[in-house]
Amino acid sequence: MRTITNLKIYMCGIFGYIGDSNASEMIVRGLKRLEYRGYDSWGIAVAAKHTLTVVKQVGPIGDVEKALTLPSSHAGLGHTRWATHGRVTQRNAHPHFSTDKSFALAQNGIVENYKELQKQLFQLGYTFHTETDTEVIVRLIEYEQTKTTSLLDAVKQAFKQLSGRNTIALITTEGEIIAARNGSPLVVGRNTKNGTLYISSDTLSFAPYVDGMYMVDNGQLIRATKSEVSCQDIQTGKSISMHYEHVSTRHSEVDKAGYEHYMLKEIHENPQVIAALLKQPAKEYERLAQAIKRARRVYAVGSGTAGIAAAQIAFYLREYAHIDAVGLVGADAKEYYDYFTPDDLIIAPSQSGETADVLEVIEHARIKKAVIASFVNMPGSMMSRLSDFAFMAQAGPEICVMSTKIFVSQIAWGYLLAKTVANKRTDALKQLEKLSHDMGDYLQKPETHKQLKEVARILVKKHDIFLMGKYQNLQIVREGMVKFIEGTYKHAHAIAAGDLKHYAITLMEKGVIVVTALSRDSVYSDMMNAMHEVKARGATVIGISADKEEGMDIHIPVPKEAETSAIMHVVPLQLLAYYMAKKLGNNIDRPRNIAKSVTVK
Ligand code: G6P
Repeated sequence: MRTITNLKIYMCGIFGYIGDSNASEMIVRGLKRLEYRGYDSWGIAVAAKHTLTVVKQVGPIGDVEKALTLPSSHAGLGHTRWATHGRVTQRNAHPHFSTDKSFALAQNGIVENYKELQKQLFQLGYTFHTETDTEVIVRLIEYEQTKTTSLLDAVKQAFKQLSGRNTIALITTEGEIIAARNGSPLVVGRNTKNGTLYISSDTLSFAPYVDGMYMVDNGQLIRATKSEVSCQDIQTGKSISMHYEHVSTRHSEVDKAGYEHYMLKEIHENPQVIAALLKQPAKEYERLAQAIKRARRVYAVGSGTAGIAAAQIAFYLREYAHIDAVGLVGADAKEYYDYFTPDDLIIAPSQSGETADVLEVIEHARIKKAVIASFVNMPGSMMSRLSDFAFMAQAGPEICVMSTKIFVSQIAWGYLLAKTVANKRTDALKQLEKLSHDMGDYLQKPETHKQLKEVARILVKKHDIFLMGKYQNLQIVREGMVKFIEGTYKHAHAIAAGDLKHYAITLMEKGVIVVTALSRDSVYSDMMNAMHEVKARGATVIGISADKEEGMDIHIPVPKEAETSAIMHVVPLQLLAYYMAKKLGNNIDRPRNIAKSVTVK
């Protein structure tokens, strides 16, 4: 297999269809489910009467109300793009036609050596019409076709010359789809009852229509026609038997279930994702707990919200299990690579299991033979495959780009794991059961929403919002900050209460608002002091806690939880972000400029 030299990933979604229904309609549906991967532009190619027709447009596929005016067809290939290479134009949108229009190709990834390849192809007389690296793949295949009559062989030869992480899929005039993977995800879905095939970037996009899925591995190629689908190793050409896995029905639930936005629906699913953890077999937790006890040090690593979850998981391991655990942010973990040893253990919480920054850390940790554990929501992800301990969140799809229920699931899992390490699993299960129940009640109560809407109305008027926390609530207010920023496009700043007097206190004055989360724990009096210090300078304090504490100008009451109070505090912060975003008229489920699951390095 060619090596992965760099973990740059371009967010994009690929969706291929072969079946009895109208391909363009099925592809529009599939691409809508893949839209979280990119929503700059999209394109669809369909094969009918020995001809390929391609339509491309700038803008999100979600804006396409009904099937397009493409010819009726039973095979097609679609792509939704998040441009980083070549501007957002109709011309740069995928799929890209071959010169003779015998095939059209889409890519998820980047061809890192595309400049060199393009130069060679120029010299051979090939011309280019787009600004994309993907067109280089098309021309390279055309060049390889001059040496062989087999398109499959030409694709294999061309693919072997690409460097970087990329997955490609092409469709021919006869409705044959060829796809190859190296890095970016690729999954085949199959419905055995009607023989329909799907070739996609994730399981979510076809989950309702299939009874089995096959995760294509790096270095594998898929060839699919109306009558058959086969898999082979790209280097050796050896055929690989495809073992289909069952697709969980939870991954079919991709509708708003009556909620106005996915974000609100997913916040309401917080209690369920905690309940899902309670049903998971103890054995896997026990096995990982043993490995953690043997480890020299644990590094919990994630990006964005998952990076904050990683820090909270490390906190729980330190506090409840006395484990030397540190939280790392994926993009900034490089300086630790030299220190990874076979006695270390990496824990990676990740919704997608495909985040480039985190995959890079894992790959380096694997080189050092460290033990890898992951907690992922998307089945069959790269991260799960690289893990010695692959846990699944089983939280159902999270569609809103702002992560909510997955964060709750990740930190609740971290708590349960830490307590398992401390031989107190039964106690943790009880606490989590109560938490899930109380959280459900809290979310159902109309007063919860009434109050948080009012507080959101106050907060949106501010240019800056401060949040303050300590100990178990420090990462929680940091996550609140992330949600506030994503939801409002305004500035928010999380302060470590203990550090307040060292710098942030200079900003405290009349008109400033500080949102705090407070538990009756060992740092309770420190938090009270910090609250008084900001109040003494004229700031207004909004406090999230079970009991109203002296000094809170506005109290947001939440159910009383013991060790899991910090997890409870996340919910009002998420709801505040939601109601602020709504008040401001922002795009709640797709905040500007951020992508859901895979970042570009
Ligand atoms: C992006 C998303 C975050 C997410 C992060 C990591 O930045 O906007 O919500 O936490 O990626 O994604 P992962 O799939 O690894 O959880």
